[in-house]
Parts: sequence; C-alpha cells; structure tokens
Amino acid sequence: MGRYVVGVSGASGMILAHRTIAALADLGHQVEFLMSTQAAYTASLEMGKEYGSPTKFLASFSMEQQEKIQLHGFQDVGCAIASGSYLTDGMVIVPCSMTTIAAIAVGLGDNAIRRGADVVLKERRPLVLVPREAPFSTLHLENLHKLSLLGATIVPPIPAWYTQPKSLEDVENFIVGKVLDALGVKHALYPRWNGRHKGHKA
Ligand SMILES: Cc1cc2nc3c(=O)[nH]c(=O)nc-3n(C[C@H](O)[C@H](O)[C@H](O)COP(=O)(O)O)c2cc1C
Repeated sequence: MGRYVVGVSGASGMILAHRTIAALADLGHQVEFLMSTQAAYTASLEMGKEYGSPTKFLASFSMEQQEKIQLHGFQDVGCAIASGSYLTDGMVIVPCSMTTIAAIAVGLGDNAIRRGADVVLKERRPLVLVPREAPFSTLHLENLHKLSLLGATIVPPIPAWYTQPKSLEDVENFIVGKVLDALGVKHALYPRWNGRHKGHKA
C-alpha cells in the first residue's frame, strides 16, 4: 500500500478533500493530512462547524479511516513530510487556492503544505494540484503553466457529462477518481469509457 500526502488549502471544495482522504484510506493507503488555517475556516462555512479545524475534520472520518490518517501541523515545517528523506508516493493539494499555487510556483515553503509540495517537486514524485477558481486570471494561468512545466499534474475540479452523473456525489466521485488516476492509485470511483457507447453510428 502507498503513502500519500493530502494538503487541504482554503479554496472552495472541502467536500473534495474529504472524499479524497476517505477514498485513499478506504483503499488501504496511508494518508499524511495537512489543513491550512484558512481551509479550516472554509470547511466550517461549507460543511459546518463540526469540520472547522484539522482535528475536527479528522474526527469526521470513521475509526477505520482514521487509523490510516496521520495529521501534521500546518505551521510545522519540521514535520515528517517536510523532508525528502521521508518517503511518500506523491502529494495532492485538494482544493488548491490560488495563493498556494502562487507560493509553490515561486518555491515558497513557508508552511508545511507549501514545503511538502516543494519537497515532492524536488524529489520528482507525483504532485497533483486541484486548483479552484473561476475565472482564472492570466497570473493564475501563468502559475499553473509553470507548475505543469515543473512536473505537477493540474486536475481542475471540472465534471464530465459523458458519464451521465445523476447526483452531486457522482460528480465528486468523478473528480476524486481523476485525482487518484493522476496519483497512480487504482480505484473504481467512476465508470470508465470503453468505446462501446450506444446510439452513435460511425
Ligand atoms: C468561503 C471561501 C471560499 C474561498 N474560495 C476560494 C477559491 O475557490 N479559490 C481561491 O483561490 N481562494 C479562495 N478563497 C480564498 C483563500 O481562502 C485565501 O486566498 C487564503 O489566503 C488561502 O490560503 P491557503 O492557500 O494557505 O489556504 C476562499 C475563501 C473563503 C473564505
């Protein structure tokens, strides 16, 4: 089983963070979990006060899931994942704010999420970023372009309609599934296209 760092920054989309962590834990992977101060605030607004701190967010997972989740302090730039010598299989920041995108793009490691991303880039491990903003400014796009060139995989939380989602949960499963695909994690969160669709004759 793998060990994946999941950083949660203060953009909208906290449910995607929750589902990503739950999916990795359910699949038996170890999750190194970090949540920014602003993410905790956004979580309390989007999901309720009972999610409004890293420890509360952690407590919202089942006991089985919690056994797979290690919480690190957001300001603890000396935590395990802040060193390349601590082996991980990759990192995702979900959702990823434009502030955190900008910081990573200039190598700013002033908190444990940003430092963790810097480490994953220097070690050339998978870095998956789920940027949430609309519309993107030219500066956002420049930073994302730079990070893509540096090896990060940019997975915006954009749904697909060809899977014919019936609920918001279907849409979230598709996005989380794309995140896991980018990390190289096997899963069955969304139905895969097999080319044998009905109704269209070539
Ligand atoms: C409810 C709420 C929603 C937000 N949504 C976004 C967003 O979708 N994208 C974004 O870049 N920033 C968003 N922000 C602003 C970030 O939280 C802010 O830029 C913060 O400094 C990010 O810090 P962090 O990346 O260290 O978590 C939002 C803030 C709040 C309060």
